[in-house]
Amino acid sequence: MTQDNYKDAIKDPIFLVIAEAAAELNVASYVIGGFVRDFLLKRGIPKDIDVVAVGSGIELAQKVASKLPTNPKVSVFKNFGTAMLKYNDLELEFVGARKESYHEDSRKPIVENGSLEDDQNRRDFTINAMAISLNKNTYGQLLDPFNGINDLANKIIKTPLEPGVTYSDDPLRMMRAIRFATQLQFNIEEKSFLSITENKDRINIISKERIVDELNKIMNSSKPSIGFALLHKSKLLPFILPELSALQGIEEIEGHKHKDNFWHTLEVVDNISENTDNLWLRWAALLHDIGKAPTKKFHKKKGWTFRGHEFIGSKMVYKLFKRLRMPLNDKMKYVQKMVLMSSRPIVLSEDFVTDSAVRRLIFDAGENIEDLMILCEADITTKNTKKQRKFRNNFKLVRQKIVEVEERDQIRNFQPPVTGEEIMKTFNLKPSKEIGILKEAIKEAILDGTIPNDYNEAYNFMLKKGKELGL
Ligand code: CTP
Repeated sequence: MTQDNYKDAIKDPIFLVIAEAAAELNVASYVIGGFVRDFLLKRGIPKDIDVVAVGSGIELAQKVASKLPTNPKVSVFKNFGTAMLKYNDLELEFVGARKESYHEDSRKPIVENGSLEDDQNRRDFTINAMAISLNKNTYGQLLDPFNGINDLANKIIKTPLEPGVTYSDDPLRMMRAIRFATQLQFNIEEKSFLSITENKDRINIISKERIVDELNKIMNSSKPSIGFALLHKSKLLPFILPELSALQGIEEIEGHKHKDNFWHTLEVVDNISENTDNLWLRWAALLHDIGKAPTKKFHKKKGWTFRGHEFIGSKMVYKLFKRLRMPLNDKMKYVQKMVLMSSRPIVLSEDFVTDSAVRRLIFDAGENIEDLMILCEADITTKNTKKQRKFRNNFKLVRQKIVEVEERDQIRNFQPPVTGEEIMKTFNLKPSKEIGILKEAIKEAILDGTIPNDYNEAYNFMLKKGKELGL
């Protein structure tokens, strides 16, 4: 690429506004970081623009805002020396060049201003330290002191300074290295990876929210296993998700082995990522077997068992979400439900599939039935092609059955065909436990297939049951 090509990155008229504002303030300015990296990776022109000013980033942001027709609001973060504004679909962040890295977690204000080179030295990776000039005589030139462009071409994650310095400046960068390696499918330079291993326990000073942001980015990648394998190899994983680390390993007793549930889980996550972008379904895949570590037992007759691991696993989901300060809302409940139900379609597919078992599955899964099937299909990781074919075929049959049963009985969004009020009116009852008993009996009769999901049939069934109860 010739120097001229970098101008393509800064074609948007906003860059002329920034350049003009910077010239008026007599400060040098550059667009830097992820914007330059993603442009060079041909990931399109990013909407997040980081600008570094050799001077006050806050003043530059204010000057830029005053020149824009929409006069956008400037959010100032004085302690970090940064300011942010939104313009159309762009998000612009301004920062003054500095000698030291800033820490989001630190309360210490930034004092020492620096040159562009100082600022580039203190960034996380060579591929994130490239800048494009917005200054008059050098407009559009690339400033790449660490040859980040080479590292982009060679797919290498490397720190500008000694890795130990860069990682202790901000230990979150250990996770960022792994996240970029996953997203971009790059390799982490050996020296750097070694340093992550050495500094792993420093991750404890980083807020859970920032860690989870990185985890989610790993999770949203096309092959999340890359990241989890690196977290495992660097020994960061036990600090973040010890429940997953506990799944690693194979035990053998009297010639009986169980599979390594950690590596199996990573395969499941990759499989599911080919079929869904739903972050929470991907989390469910990651956590679907976590109950296997605490429930593992060896029986002389049965071999290895993991009894009730789905239930224990779903309880562990809550604790894990709480510990990582993840949302304890409907998303968490959804993950719990998926983990709890994760073996249901498998059990079905191994047996002769009865209508009533399918009705119960649809009833329990409700609107999540399709997601549950996607999870179970991703769970097939056997390398035995014959078995693989058999499992896939069985799931196909379960799916067919689901469609047939659902068409006929409409169980998915089940509403009791006879309401509580109607039961009260028919038997002249006040609110009482009999109403619940009757409603439950009707539901059970429908799920068992004793009666169809139909008002008249349910009404007659209710009369009969009421009589039996002496109403
Ligand atoms: N940066 C850093 N150390 C960090 C975080 C960020 O040095 N711990 C620098 C990098 O130069 C980075 C820039 O700040 O490119 C912007 O950071 P951020 O917006 O978090 O990430 P991006 O690199 O833009 O990537 P993404 O948008 O994918 O998160």
